[in-house]
Amino acid sequence: MKIHVLGSAAGGGFPQWNCNCTNCYGVRSGRIEATARTQSSIAVSLDEERWLLFNASPDLRAQLEATPALQPRRGLRGTGIHAVVLADSQIDHTTGLLLLREGCPLDVYCTDMVAEDLSTGFPIFKMLESWDGGVNHHQIPVDGSSFKVTGMEGLRITAVPLDGKAPPYSPHRHDPHIGDNVGFYIEDTQNNTAIFYAPGLGVMTQRLLDIMMAADCVLVDGTFWQEDEMIVAGVGSKLAAEMGHLPQSGDNGMMQWMNKLTGPRKILIHINNTNPILIEDSIQRQQLTSQGIEVAWDGMAFEVVPQSRDSEVLRRKHGEYAHA
Ligand code: MLT
Ligand code: MN
Ligand code: ZN
Repeated sequence: MKIHVLGSAAGGGFPQWNCNCTNCYGVRSGRIEATARTQSSIAVSLDEERWLLFNASPDLRAQLEATPALQPRRGLRGTGIHAVVLADSQIDHTTGLLLLREGCPLDVYCTDMVAEDLSTGFPIFKMLESWDGGVNHHQIPVDGSSFKVTGMEGLRITAVPLDGKAPPYSPHRHDPHIGDNVGFYIEDTQNNTAIFYAPGLGVMTQRLLDIMMAADCVLVDGTFWQEDEMIVAGVGSKLAAEMGHLPQSGDNGMMQWMNKLTGPRKILIHINNTNPILIEDSIQRQQLTSQGIEVAWDGMAFEVVPQSRDSEVLRRKHGEYAHA
């Protein structure tokens, strides 16, 4: 299974268009050791011909231009994008669907809750009906059963419901439902490798840790370094928890959880522009590095390599993790 990180920043990107915070100003002026990043999305492939897009970022057009593997190869019109899978209905994860309008009908896999948001509060599914065939919505189960994408049957995907809020424009913003936010356990059934992808993850649990333990690589929420980061930076009033993101530092923070993960490669993704880990020579970044945690960057591409792990985890991996 091959992974392409198309975008590694949180909503707004890095730098954010209207932001003059230390990081955004720093990267624009070249005063900090940091690289610009587009909004979060990854592409996954088994044959490097057909790619499954996980989330469709507002930066998708630039991401495709930067990624030859996903560009048209033959015929007058074409794309490497076989289908799209959505983790939630947030702007930074779905707006890119509008940029794919010339390729309708689009096969889009998402939960019923996400499909509802994208037909009501942010009605891009409805809008796309005006293009040939619009969106074919394939329902993602949220009961722990896996699903397959037609034409990419070598991948087995299981949505893992996560705590979090629906976006501000969702009709059920204040009434959380299972399926508003999910992570994905993605298995290559041929090579028996797996990744866990969750760009928005507000609460870690032992069960989530077990799922991650069964993966060879995890790509998880790296939005904030600290709980009150937006407030301290002077750019917002919300805590990380209110936004559905678990910060890296602090008691029960992502770093503490990641330290319990012994097998898989650990990568943080969906980094907010206020996060000091974007500065490559910051102490926060050094702390991650010393603990074997990587920070995703746009253009990062790799083959998932099986990790060594104890037999108990292997057993779980060969069975359905959901029944572990
Ligand atoms: C989030 O995940 O909290 C988003 O990045 C917020 C946004 O897109 O504005
Ligand atoms: Mn986001
Ligand atoms: Zn900023």
